[in-house]
Amino acid sequence: MIKTVSTTPYQDQKPGTSGLRKKVPVFAQENYAENFIQAIFDSLEGFAGKTLVIGGDGRYYNREVIQKAIKMAAASGFGKVMVGQGGILSTPAASNIIRKYHAFGGLILSASHNPGGPNEDFGIKYNTGNGGPAPEKITDAIYARTKVIDTYKIVDSADIDLDEVGTFKISGMEVQVIDPVADYAELMEQLFDFVAIRALLASGVRIAIDSMGAVTGPYAVEIFENRLGAPEGSVRNATPLPDFGGHHPDPNLVHAKELYDDVMSKSGPHFGAASDGDGDRNMVVGKGMFVTPSDSLAIIAANATLAPGYAKGIAGIARSMPTSAAADRVAEKLKIGMYETPTGWKFFGNLLDAGKATVCGEESFGTGSDHVREKDGLWAVLFWLNIMAARNESVAEIVKSHWAEYGRNYYSRHDYEEVDSDAANALVAALREKLPTLPGQTFGALKVEFADDFAYLDPIDGSVSKNQGIRILFEGGSRVVFRLSGTGTSGATIRVYVERYEPDASRHDIETQTALADLIAVADEISDLKKRSGRDAPTVIT
Ligand code: G6P
Ligand code: ZN
Repeated sequence: MIKTVSTTPYQDQKPGTSGLRKKVPVFAQENYAENFIQAIFDSLEGFAGKTLVIGGDGRYYNREVIQKAIKMAAASGFGKVMVGQGGILSTPAASNIIRKYHAFGGLILSASHNPGGPNEDFGIKYNTGNGGPAPEKITDAIYARTKVIDTYKIVDSADIDLDEVGTFKISGMEVQVIDPVADYAELMEQLFDFVAIRALLASGVRIAIDSMGAVTGPYAVEIFENRLGAPEGSVRNATPLPDFGGHHPDPNLVHAKELYDDVMSKSGPHFGAASDGDGDRNMVVGKGMFVTPSDSLAIIAANATLAPGYAKGIAGIARSMPTSAAADRVAEKLKIGMYETPTGWKFFGNLLDAGKATVCGEESFGTGSDHVREKDGLWAVLFWLNIMAARNESVAEIVKSHWAEYGRNYYSRHDYEEVDSDAANALVAALREKLPTLPGQTFGALKVEFADDFAYLDPIDGSVSKNQGIRILFEGGSRVVFRLSGTGTSGATIRVYVERYEPDASRHDIETQTALADLIAVADEISDLKKRSGRDAPTVIT
């Protein structure tokens, strides 16, 4: 039954920030997915007879690749595959399944927040037994293998029926099709005070959860409507569709604008939240208040003990370098560790495993904790509802009192998408060259205190990651950071992260772009951004 198929390597299968992401037509090339999956298996040791978890966000091509992956896992000697019904597993749910059932690892099929469809994005990511994304050591080995691979193994058999929960056999390997939601919902019920949240919703606080036609729909319906008693329809766009119903499932002010506008309207819900394609990102808005992901991390950390799962306190906080320093002030006050890592959730894994950090967050709409090893969108939403219930306050009240206590970190990210790659690389190279000359220079009222190309020394395994973003710090806590995105699929995306610290509570009501205007101008001046990118303005501002 096991076939060995000869194949020709592809040279472009380098995993990015979060696995291999390409357009569907690229993935659909002959043996393209097979090569990558086999390269993953070839880079792992000791999985014979062990369990592999497989699931995806339901996007176009999900089912096809799952069938291939199951047959290849059987041919390579895995003992069992656990796969979500319908091929569905949100990224945090997959992480939970890997951990809970002590699987060897998992394949998560997703291109996260990128659109889905026949001409849109697809992706494959490998997670290790701790439930987290594979570290660079493994992704580098996978990439090296893809460049020379000449055969792959696959079982020649009929497709598995993914739509029926149950256990099947394929060439001696067990395939268990599982309910994708049950284990995850149970975990959330352990971490949060469902009784208090239920009472909050019963008291008239109306919520709107936008699943954007992607994977979180079934999870959100089960948790918010079935278990927490939110009225039917509180979850929108709740059916995962191969093209996400045309949505760009990126929960931010641009792509989740409809929800945002609804919450801001007079008669709209009091609380809104959106998730991305695979359910690891989140956006939280309250009436009159958009919560930046950086503030969300800080506020969750400051209020963590209000949730039963964190009642004993948190050990430390970790954030990616471009994320604002709001959380740093909380860590300082709580006298707990604060860790600054490169962009990419995988860098949190070691800190979480070692018990150094309990909550983590990124400016890219990711928040999570040591309950799994991925960021977790619905977890963050539940955390907010738990805090609201415990404090009996609205989102706006919670955020404002946080700023009053800690000061406000005004924050915004400007993205220049699909810029010519050479131009983007040249911009970064020129900035790098300028670094030594910047400290001491003044730009209007701003004086550069420090500038570098961020490098990270992992305190657990001693590995070093260099060239993780140019950061320019000004006296008083303001900052500009430049980075090239590691997740795009066409051209280059230049990200400019701008932050200003404002301790004075009487100055906490300024419109964000206005509060940051001088820094935005300096960012352009230092980098020659407009000229080099050929753009007058960013494509996306969040
Ligand atoms: C993915 C990762 C995140 C990371 C983000 C950055 O979503 O899971 O951990 O923050 O990509 O993307 P970028 O496009 O900025 O490299
Ligand atoms: Zn995602």
